[in-house]
Amino acid sequence: MRFIFGFLTCLFILAILGFFVAWRGLFPVSAKASSPPRWEKKIAGFALDHALSKQAPLKENPLPVTEANLEKGMEIYQQSCSTCHGDVLKRSKWGTTSFYPRVPQFGKKASDMQESQIFWIEKNGIKYTGMASFEPFLTDNEMWQVAMFLRHLDTLPPKVNAQWHTPEE
Ligand code: HEC
Repeated sequence: MRFIFGFLTCLFILAILGFFVAWRGLFPVSAKASSPPRWEKKIAGFALDHALSKQAPLKENPLPVTEANLEKGMEIYQQSCSTCHGDVLKRSKWGTTSFYPRVPQFGKKASDMQESQIFWIEKNGIKYTGMASFEPFLTDNEMWQVAMFLRHLDTLPPKVNAQWHTPEE
């Protein structure tokens, strides 16, 4: 009984403290702050990994791996994603200095996420980050093409690979 009472008192004090910090305007809300501390990344990463395993059903990409699909995936990535996630030639300044949390940089090596998880993230976005849902802007096929492209960065057909390494005008 005493333990439960102590526990509830602690929770109550923490809630009051949290409220006080927010009410006095002391909560750090600027996105300019440097990257999140390690503990914050650990907790957020843990929550995201577990949410994805539960909510993003693992399935095969319904599209075949062809040069045309990979090329389209690359073009969509360059139009819709590289401003934040960077590409093979340069990291995104915006993504690496202006977001909290910072935006993971893709483009140099293939993603280790499953294509269906990348697809799920494109479709749903990730709450409390700058990762928006692309559902209103891309079709399902287009999202699968980008997911396929990110998983095949290390094994692109020569033509697509050459385009990927050519600076955009
Ligand atoms: C406005 C900036 C922005 C754009 C544009 C953007 N993203 Fe993101 N994305 C983010 C941020 C911020 C995160 C980090 C979320 C986090 O820390 O959990 C993220 C995370 C992700 C992740 C999870 C990575 C990981 O390792 O946890 C994937 C996959 C992803 N984005 C794919 C895409 C794709 C594909 C596109 C283009 C269709 C795209 N994003 C466009 C900001 C962006």
